[in-house]
Parts: sequence; C-alpha cells; structure tokens
Amino acid sequence: MNEFAYSYPVKTYFGQGAAAKALPAELAKVGEKVLLAYGGGSIKNNGIYDEMVSILKEAGKIVIEFSGIMSNPTYKKVQEGAKLCKEEQIDFILAVGGGSVIDCCKIVAVQARTEEDIWEMEFTKHRFPTQALPMGAVVTASGTGAEQNAGAVITNEEKKIKAGVFGTYAEFAVLDPAYTLSVPFGQVVSGAFDTLSHCMETYFGKPQETFLSDEINEAVMRNTIGNIRSLMKNPEDLYARGELMWDSAMAENGILKIGKVTDFQAHQIEHQLGAYTDCNHGQGLAVIHPVLYRHIYKEGLEKFKRFAIKVWDIPLEGKTDEELALAGIDALADFIKEIKLPTTLTEMGITDHSILKAVAESSNITAGCCKKLTSQEIEEILKECR
Ligand code: NZQ
Ligand code: ZN
Repeated sequence: MNEFAYSYPVKTYFGQGAAAKALPAELAKVGEKVLLAYGGGSIKNNGIYDEMVSILKEAGKIVIEFSGIMSNPTYKKVQEGAKLCKEEQIDFILAVGGGSVIDCCKIVAVQARTEEDIWEMEFTKHRFPTQALPMGAVVTASGTGAEQNAGAVITNEEKKIKAGVFGTYAEFAVLDPAYTLSVPFGQVVSGAFDTLSHCMETYFGKPQETFLSDEINEAVMRNTIGNIRSLMKNPEDLYARGELMWDSAMAENGILKIGKVTDFQAHQIEHQLGAYTDCNHGQGLAVIHPVLYRHIYKEGLEKFKRFAIKVWDIPLEGKTDEELALAGIDALADFIKEIKLPTTLTEMGITDHSILKAVAESSNITAGCCKKLTSQEIEEILKECR
C-alpha cells in the first residue's frame, strides 16, 4: 500500500425521509439566497421539487432557480449558472439531481467566485480554484458518486472534450433511496454499472498487490452485482436501491482509493466517446470494459485471477492462471448481457464509426493500470467495440 493521508469533507445523510431531517439543520448554517439547481424537470413530476421548495421556504430562504441542466453537462451551462450566481448574489447552491446536476454545480460554485475562466485556469495555466460558493447535493439518481467528490465531468462542446474539472465538494449529501424510484429503469442499471466500473478502475490501479482497500472493494463489487440482480427481479426493492446508493458513494468517497493510484482508463475512453456522441455514461463503460480488459489482462494476471475468484466466484480447479483471469472477464461480459446493458457501440446507437479514430486520439492515457496503452491500441479497442 502507498503512503496516504485521509480525511473526508462530505457529511452524508442516508435513508428514507433523509431530506426532511438533514436540510433544515444544514440550511440553518447558510446564507439567505439559495440557488435551487436541477435538470430537465423530472423533480417536478416526482414531487421532489415541491418538497425542496417547501423546505427552503420553511427555512426562510429566497429561492432562485437554475434549471435545464442536461445529462453530460456542458461548459456553456456552467457559465450560465455562474453568471446567475453572480447577478443574484447567491449564498448557497442546492443541487438536486443525478451526477450531471451535481457536477455542473460543483463547477458553477467555483466559477461564481472568480473572474478567471475555470477551463483556462485548470487546463492551460494548471492552477486550481481556491474559492467556492458552498453547496449541498440531494441525490435523485445514484451511480456516479458525484456527491462524494470535488471532481466534475464537463463537456466543452467547442473543444470537443469531456473532461474531469476540479471544483468543490458538497458540504453535505442527502441519499434517499426512495427518490430513485422514478428513475427510468435503464438509467438505474447503467448508473449501478458505473459504480461497478469505479470499483474496477480503482481495484486494477497500482500497486497491483492486494491490501485492505482492495478487500473492501471486493465486498462493494459483490454487493453492487448482487443488488443489481435483486433489482432486476423486483425494481421496487428499496433495500436493494439503498444498498446500490451506498455502494455508489463508497466507490467515490475515497475509502477504496486509500493507498492506491487509480486507473480510470475505461472512463477516459468513454468520456471522449461522450464528447463525440453525447452517449449514456454507464452504457459506454459497459461496452468498453470487457474489450479493454481482454487487451491488458496478461500484464495484470494475478489481479485479474483474484478478481475472477473473489468477485465472480469462479472455481479454481483445473484452470491455469490465464484461464481463470479470462473466466473473470467472461463473467463480467455475461453479467452485462444479463442486466440488459448494451454490449456494442452499435447496440447503444453509435453507428457512425468514422469518429473512433478521433475519439482514440483525444482520449487521455492513464498510467495507473497494469499496462499503459497507446492511442493506436485505444483505437483497436474502440473498433472491437463496434
Ligand atoms: O434531467 P433530469 O430531469 O434530472 O432527468 C435525469 C436524466 O434524464 C433523470 N433523473 C434523475 N433523477 C431522476 C431522474 N428521472 C426520474 N426520477 C428521478 N429521481 O436521469 C437522467 C440521467 O441523469 P444524469 O444525472 O445525467 O445521470 P448520472 O447520474 O448517471 O450522471 C451522469 C454524468 O455524471 C458524470 C458522467 O460523465 C455524466 O456526465 N460522472 C461524474 C462522476 C463524478 N463526478 O464523480 C463520475 C462518473 O464517472 C461520471 O463520469
Ligand atoms: Zn463513471
């Protein structure tokens, strides 16, 4: 295990009815003017909007709305939110939504506190923001764990780049599994697969040998797989939804990353696929992961073998290390089919394959996993995903 320092800033409230308990206490600590940020309007159909407005009014807040945050939020939308915060002299941001709403707000919060362009600051000057408006997150669709970290994934449409931008942490996060009941089921599953992906991208990071963080990670992966299966049988299962919500938070709250350098190569490829196609994040990962792992497993044989045994319960007997490692990757691929996620780019609606070279060439290459890829290898991987 690498050396580490660990502390965590996000106060997390979990459980049914959590908002009614958490928000009055948290809102009492912040200023009067609150930006209520949300997405395309699902919260108006499922009652969450009315609940938020009533809690905010009860707390004596002046509410300014920032709506229409799209999936795969754009940098333009971030600028719109930051302008609104400045004009309205907002004191606090309440982000109510999935990863997209929460991510957008994490960057709105820092852009609202500086005249410098955040993208330029981070990607050209290689400096990071030091000030932010305080914010809180109410999670309505789980999977990304965005409420737990300070990084946001933002699409810069002009530059055709979807990238991780450093923003701010939420002061608190509200996780109510019942809020997820209205999420379209395909999104529930792709969100939960995103959680599994975060676990794998951490597990296969460096160092390769196994220590406590990886053993906890194995438990989170098994729990995620088991509870996705439970939800496939009964989508109303609130226990399973709650477990998946906490799995999602656990994958991103830093605990599994303690002492590790994470990989996130599948994510880097998927993000660029998203920049070119605006595709669903979890679906893109489901297509990429098995193909990527078949390319690299030989360099990380021990860990892939352990993944097969500990996460997928593949019996040892009579198998070589390589057969075991491949059986684990096959089990992952079979699981993706079982939970009805797409297995090819075509299946997920990406039929213009002429973009794949550009996607490969613009994907970041990480150093974290067992094999460092080249752009040509990423292109091969993407072509195999067709
Ligand atoms: O726009 P609204 O109306 O909110 O509808 C959303 C959206 O259409 C809907 N939804 C959310 N809660 C709902 C609901 N519909 C009915 N009932 C509810 N309770 O679900 C759709 C998808 O929402 P979105 O927020 O886009 O999905 P997700 O949570 O998967 O977030 C995806 C974004 O997060 C980024 C992804 O790249 C993508 O941009 N990620 C962020 C990460 C982070 N910050 O740590 C890590 C991830 O790896 C990921 O990259
Ligand atoms: Zn992800």
